[in-house]
Parts: sequence; C-alpha cells; structure tokens
Amino acid sequence: MNRDVIIACDFSSRQATLSFLDRFGEGRKPFVKIGMELFYGEGPSIVREIKARGHRIFLDLKLHDIPNTVRKAMKVLSALDVDLVNVHAAGTVAMMKAALEGLTREDGTRPLLIAVTQLTSTGDEALRNELLIGAGMEETILRYARNAREAGLDGVVCSPLEAGIVKEACGKDFLTVTPGIRFADSASDDQVRITTPARARELGSDYIVVGRPVTAAPDPVAAYRRCLEEFV
Ligand code: C5P
Repeated sequence: MNRDVIIACDFSSRQATLSFLDRFGEGRKPFVKIGMELFYGEGPSIVREIKARGHRIFLDLKLHDIPNTVRKAMKVLSALDVDLVNVHAAGTVAMMKAALEGLTREDGTRPLLIAVTQLTSTGDEALRNELLIGAGMEETILRYARNAREAGLDGVVCSPLEAGIVKEACGKDFLTVTPGIRFADSASDDQVRITTPARARELGSDYIVVGRPVTAAPDPVAAYRRCLEEFV
C-alpha cells in the first residue's frame, strides 16, 4: 500500500470546497475526505463533481445500522465510485460483512472499506460508565480491529499512536488511516492525541487525514506539500 495524505474537506458548501480545490491547479490532485456535513448538505452530486475533477475520495459517513440496511446503502455508495468508505465496527461482524457485500460490484471490484474502532472523542470514562465497556480502550480497539479483519475489511481509522499495535494484531497489510495530525509548530485545535506527519510515518500509518493544518493554512498548497514531504 502506498502512503498518501488525505485532506479533510470540512467545508459546508460546494462553492467553498471547489474554490479550495481550485488552488491546487493542474498539479497533484489531493486525495480528499468528504464528511457528513458536505455530503448531507450537497448530496451525491458533490462526490461526482470532485471525482470528475480527478481526485480520489474517502467518503467518511461512518455507517452503523442493521446489516440489511447497511448492505443496501453501501451498494449506492459503491455506484458513486468512491475510493474509500467506512462503517462503525460496533455494528458487529455481521454488519461489516454485509457492508462488504453491498460494496462489491458485479465485476468484483469495490472501494476500500475501513472501520471506526472507537471515536477519538470517546474517553476512558465514557467507555466504562456510559457505554458499559469494561475492557478498557486499548483492548476494545484491538478487538474491534480484529473483528473488522475477520469480516474481511481492509483496515481501520485510528490514532497514529495506535497504528503500531493495530498492525501487530492484524498484520502489516491491514490499513491504518489516521487523523490527529499536526505540524510540530502548529496549533493543536481541539485534537488531543496528535503527532506530526513525519512521526505518523514512523509509527506505520498508511494514510494520514489532515484537515485544518492544510485547509486553514495561509498557503494550503504549501502546507499540503509539506505533509507529502514529511509523510510520503
Ligand atoms: O482539522 P483536523 O486535522 O483536526 O481534521 C481531522 C479530520 O479527521 C476531521 O474531519 C475529523 O472529523 C476526522 N476524524 C478525527 N478523528 C477520528 C475520526 C475522524 O479527527 N477519530
């Protein structure tokens, strides 16, 4: 698997997203992440439009429902020709298998499918006292990652700090897609467990997901290039 940098296009409108992407001109087209806000606001046409401009797309909708519903929803997303999609591992192995079936096209091709283990916004206290998961964060993440691998998924979203243990448990080809990236000299914003692109590379991430350090930079194209230089 080739390492790459995915830019989180956390914009609220088509206009803002496309003007941002225009800045990259005819150079390397970044791999972009489209999340719930943009997708729910603009609908599937924004995916088609960005795809038609030559970008690879991670559609970050984190599906979590009964297996039949997820299978059918994934069939629709697969027809959008995205490159990477995700589900919550908490939906069970049966749901993840159904997601994979729905994604697989008649010719056998499909987008990559990864699972969210535990959101990085969930702390140890909420895990234990609200979700009643007594196993602890690391054990839960590893078990959910193994469940995703058992279901046939390609990898997980996790913190770069967890990439090593996930690879150890699930194999070096099991993808780790990692947000929580900051340059050594930039603000951490609301992210807590952060690392630099260079450190994420050392820790074994396959893809880093970078939002504000690129989208809010005075020169986003230069910030993107800096990510590539440090990570790829
Ligand atoms: O701006 P920033 O670099 O913090 O953006 C990170 C992106 O990765 C956001 O789109 C955020 O929703 C997403 N993400 C995350 N942590 C996760 C899963 C997704 O930060 N565990």
